[in-house]
Amino acid sequence: MLDNVERAADSSWLDGALARFAADNGDLAPRTRALLDALVAEPTRHARMLNTLSLLEHMGSHKIMATQHSAAIDQATLKHVAEEAHHAFFMKRQAEKTAERALEYVAGDLLAPSSARMYFQRLEGATVRALGERRSVRAAYLYMSMIVEFRALWFYGLYEQALKRAQHALSLKRIIGEEQAHLGDMAERLEAGHELDDVRASAVLAAERRLYSRLLGALERAAP
Ligand SMILES: [Fe+2]
Ligand SMILES: [Fe+2]
Repeated sequence: MLDNVERAADSSWLDGALARFAADNGDLAPRTRALLDALVAEPTRHARMLNTLSLLEHMGSHKIMATQHSAAIDQATLKHVAEEAHHAFFMKRQAEKTAERALEYVAGDLLAPSSARMYFQRLEGATVRALGERRSVRAAYLYMSMIVEFRALWFYGLYEQALKRAQHALSLKRIIGEEQAHLGDMAERLEAGHELDDVRASAVLAAERRLYSRLLGALERAAP
């Protein structure tokens, strides 16, 4: 019974947080849409975008592996790392299919690679700062993952719409479903550990928004 009450509280936090995220990012949506429409229409640069998403997914899975290697690693975390690794593979496969050649994680095969790498590193720094000295490794992992999932869900949703508009054969349905489950899972686990704090989450989300805005600018310059 208590479990249900806690779950209800958790999902209502998430619903509110998702609505706030959409509102706070309202000005970035048209720019992201325009970028995606332009990329989807142009296979060479579309392939580089897909390869960049593959790199980001790969970095995400690597980050989980690098920080979550204790004997207590649980099923949910192993599932998470497996799914992020699969997203990296999926995006790479789509990128190479689109480019009709093999692609590496090198500047010529990516879009704004240094900004993409910086996005991840700075987000980690912002998360650690927002959580303060007394953070646990577990909380840092859950917060960072949760914040990334907000953006992934938002971005892949816009990407899926751009693909539909262009009547492109690629579908992101499975990835979107998995990112949604990750987001719910992270929020639920933070809530269960009494570590879900709206003020902290809002602070990291605000920092993430600035970092995404910078990355978006770099992507726009790389794919005018
Ligand atoms: Fe992912
Ligand atoms: Fe994810």
